[in-house]
Amino acid sequence: MRAPAGRTDVCVIGTGYVGVASAIGLAELGWNVVGHDVIFERVRALERGEPPYNERGLASALRRHLSSGRIRFTESLADAVTSARIIMLAVGTPANDDGSADLSALGIASADLSALGIGGTIVVLRSTVPPGTTDALAERLGPSVPVIYSPEFLREGTAVEDFLHPSRIVIGGADEDAMKSYVELFAQVDAPVMYTSAVEAELIKGFANTFLAARISLANEAANLCDAVGADALRVLAGVGADPRIGRSFLQPGIGFGGPCLEKDTRSLRHVACAAGVRAPMLSAILEVNDAQPSRIVAMLEDEAGPINGRTIGIWGLTYKAGTDDVRHSLALSIVDEIVAKGARVRAYDPALADVPRLVKCELVQDALTAARADALVVLTDWPEFCTIPGEAIAAALRRPIVIDGRNMLDGNALQEAGIRYRGVGRGTTPRRSAVLPSSAEAVSSR
Ligand code: UDX
Repeated sequence: MRAPAGRTDVCVIGTGYVGVASAIGLAELGWNVVGHDVIFERVRALERGEPPYNERGLASALRRHLSSGRIRFTESLADAVTSARIIMLAVGTPANDDGSADLSALGIASADLSALGIGGTIVVLRSTVPPGTTDALAERLGPSVPVIYSPEFLREGTAVEDFLHPSRIVIGGADEDAMKSYVELFAQVDAPVMYTSAVEAELIKGFANTFLAARISLANEAANLCDAVGADALRVLAGVGADPRIGRSFLQPGIGFGGPCLEKDTRSLRHVACAAGVRAPMLSAILEVNDAQPSRIVAMLEDEAGPINGRTIGIWGLTYKAGTDDVRHSLALSIVDEIVAKGARVRAYDPALADVPRLVKCELVQDALTAARADALVVLTDWPEFCTIPGEAIAAALRRPIVIDGRNMLDGNALQEAGIRYRGVGRGTTPRRSAVLPSSAEAVSSR
């Protein structure tokens, strides 16, 4: 069904993750939305109420708004932009091999918009882009098109919720009327609005993700150190995060951060810094720690299980986090690859997956305990259902009682009581070593 004739409030260009969540969020706020994509099959699927990714409540919300007529989809750009007051650009900006952002989809969309002539329509860029991109877009679209940048901070698994309850609304640009018209879309949303320049808004988005990535890398580095000196990283990080200046979120040590954003955005910022001649050693360090974490998980497995060549390793979880069926940049897949490269077979279970990407060499099974029929079990995604499986059942399934908990989510004591050798990330497996105090003679001579 089409939206009521005559009024389209927002046209969303690009129906990937951000575009679909934004379109549904805007419809929830009562606006009439048209979504456009150049991928014909995706448009057809969306018209049938099938979103391109799976997340709790997403398909039902989409179907509700399709039947109320608040949302429709089209592969015709001309149809999509006709009568739209605001055009939201949410096209993909993936990474090039050198870490820079691939802006080709944005280049094509903006050239097409320019050719159509959209004078007077407000264009809001939502994709994550390097600083200066919004200004370049404004130049291409010409002075009759107000262009602003408003980053999204949507997490997979809770994207529509995040859209409706943002921590802040950042709007970057120079055209005050356009910025005010855009913010009216969010009149019902209770969130502070921050007005900045376009470049500042672009950097807010980049550094927000980089800060999250930095916290995770620091937590993983702390966990690695805790392991070496016989301390429990969960207690250490809880104590550190109890300082309100630091806070507890994004301090969970584990297999490293995955997904389409944190790594890509950190690499992109590093590329921008490098091109600008600015040293950015912290950005490199964040990535270096993260790149090394999968091998640490495999080393923990080998520590407990010995050589894994010819063994079968059970895996719980392949998506990059719970609540999504997304395996893009999932470090779980890197760990599977590494285990397979060492000559082991992998039997994996993930509650969100019915199949695995073609290049991933593992047997996918349909329940957790079948995957646990192996010489060791490695937990790689934080699906809550894994915590509900009793230790005795895991022990009965395992051929050798070894569990590596890459997410620190299982009850290690219960598993140990069930006879399992349990190892989490940074849980202090090495016997505690005392530091060496200098003797009084050494202390005096060093003064
Ligand atoms: C992220 C940002 O949170 C969001 O604001 C932005 O718009 C898009 O990128 P997302 O990629 O969906 O969202 O996932 P997020 O919840 O941030 O987790 C990213 C990765 O870090 C996951 O692999 C997760 O398991 C991992 N993680 C997260 C940790 O390892 N430890 C933590 O403490 C938190």
